[in-house]
Amino acid sequence: MAVLPIRLYGDPVLRAKAKKVEKFDEELREFIASMIETMHAAEGIGLAAPQVGVSRALCVIDVGLIEEGQLPKAFINPVIHASSQETDVREEGCLSIPGITEDVRRPQGIRLSYQDEFGVEHELECQGLLARVLQHEIDHLHGVFFTDKLSSIKRKMLSKKLRNIARDAQKEKA
Ligand code: NI
Repeated sequence: MAVLPIRLYGDPVLRAKAKKVEKFDEELREFIASMIETMHAAEGIGLAAPQVGVSRALCVIDVGLIEEGQLPKAFINPVIHASSQETDVREEGCLSIPGITEDVRRPQGIRLSYQDEFGVEHELECQGLLARVLQHEIDHLHGVFFTDKLSSIKRKMLSKKLRNIARDAQKEKA
């Protein structure tokens, strides 16, 4: 297990479409343990694999922060099958976009399928914060940031800050 470096806005891996996970082996489970450790170290509620530079369709969510008594959980190859008509607005942030939080409107509830770390298929219907975090993390697997969901005026207002984050990400790599 290890705390992995988090990729920032502007890194191409965050705009790529993540590939399906096919192998459910010890290596995958070790990677998941590292992702959970990284999420905790960064005090995040969720983390998607592309955020640590791995373009694979999985994310981890600290479900314990949402429902008491739950453990952090991996959602592998998640697919949203249905979204509620009803939407709500909540403030979001992202470990890959430090310093920016904005209100985002999303469906209030979703139904999804996913696999666990042993490859077992699950179906889940959820509402509220868990549905919100899942949508945010699943967006990462399609190269989408929460800032993409904002109005064009809001995006324009943020564009300088986002460019600065992308520039810092470049510098860190160099
Ligand atoms: Ni994020």
